[in-house]
Amino acid sequence: MRLSVIGCGYLGAVHAAAMASIGHEVVGIDVDPRKIDALSRGEAPFFEPGLPEILSAGVASGRLRFTTDIAEALGAKVHFIGVGTPQQKDGYAADLTYVNAAVDALLPYLSPGDIVAGKSTVPVGTAASLTPRIDAAGATLVWNPEFLREGWAVQDTIDPDRLVVGGSADAADVLREVYHPAVAKGTPFLVTDLATAELVKVAANAFLATKISFINAMAEIAEVTGADVTQLAEAIGHDDRIGRKFLGAGIGFGGGCLPKDIRAFSARAEELGRGESVAFLREVDEINLRRRERAVQLVIEGLGGQVFEKKITVLGAAFKPYSDDIRDSPALDVAVRLHGLGARVVVTDPEAIANAQRVHPQLTYVADRDEAIADADAIILVTEWDEYRRELAPEHASTLTHGRVVIDGRNGLDPAAWRAAGWTYLGMGRP
Ligand code: UDX
Repeated sequence: MRLSVIGCGYLGAVHAAAMASIGHEVVGIDVDPRKIDALSRGEAPFFEPGLPEILSAGVASGRLRFTTDIAEALGAKVHFIGVGTPQQKDGYAADLTYVNAAVDALLPYLSPGDIVAGKSTVPVGTAASLTPRIDAAGATLVWNPEFLREGWAVQDTIDPDRLVVGGSADAADVLREVYHPAVAKGTPFLVTDLATAELVKVAANAFLATKISFINAMAEIAEVTGADVTQLAEAIGHDDRIGRKFLGAGIGFGGGCLPKDIRAFSARAEELGRGESVAFLREVDEINLRRRERAVQLVIEGLGGQVFEKKITVLGAAFKPYSDDIRDSPALDVAVRLHGLGARVVVTDPEAIANAQRVHPQLTYVADRDEAIADADAIILVTEWDEYRRELAPEHASTLTHGRVVIDGRNGLDPAAWRAAGWTYLGMGRP
């Protein structure tokens, strides 16, 4: 099928390449010429495992191309909207500028019978407000939320755990054809109305954020009682109504989705006169942000009361491993706070240094892990890349520095092993 994908960021670029990899003829469209140049060469403009392979294969096959010219959407049967919906600069609500601009730009190139499939995460009611414009062009609007996780985006796009399409049943049938491999293997395919489809996405992210803040709240209680939140998570996680996933206590969630999505949800609920229904999301946000400060306090504690002029190595800048994304990264936030306290902060990350440097040039970046650790007074793990969590043996770290303080912002290290090697280990919600 001929498809267009408007917006080639983390969502759209992966979607375009993934759709080409399952046999469609795809044009990816974005206003950023640098992004389009890279993608046209088959190069991913950001780090995402598996993306370079399907991009270059798609471009080489001739089924995948990229352009800044929206007119090239003409002739596609389905037009996916995958532009960003960031938090507004002066409030919690989502900024819909890019969604509106994408739809306006697309309108002249829609043919009767086309389908416009919104994938961006939007406040409930957005699709209904866009419908008259799309209807007037003789096309049909559906909402088809995306649940991909960064780091697993290719797999999540080609083989998702469910597909949700809000809007007309006939248009949903066309999307069944688009997602044919997943449909053939029996992936749940839910057809809903527009509002439900929009809400499914924000509800899912609100639930995940709440689950993380729940366990981080338990970490706060563990800290004043001597309990161990990792054992607690393990024990409650065996109840399959609760489940162990997303019960990782630490410095909390960040990224381009969860933080802004829960805020946009709160703002939208207020507009709808139902602010109280999701008032708990404010607490979820506050618990989450408190954990960053807690990590900073642990560094201060570990170093005997002050960090001024101490060298602190921050392991990780990305908001999570297998990503170079630093949007709302708790890892980088901890680094910036320590820098603000006068510490000599050295940040390392396998993929995210270039992005971090652009936003926080005041920090020192060292690509090599061991070089970054050399002579550190304290080390803090904030992004659980394997090379920090699994592959950094305490005995090896001891050969790099005389400092013997390690703060585990992700509860990913083995406290017994680090203590046995002579280190002071401080975790999040662990004795
Ligand atoms: C999230 C949703 O998972 C995905 O379905 C949606 O489409 C987009 O938003 P993503 O932003 O890629 O995906 O990251 P996710 O894996 O959900 O992690 C979000 C944050 O939570 C990260 O900063 C991660 O470190 C943190 N996290 C996750 C925890 O602190 N503890 C956990 O147990 C799990």
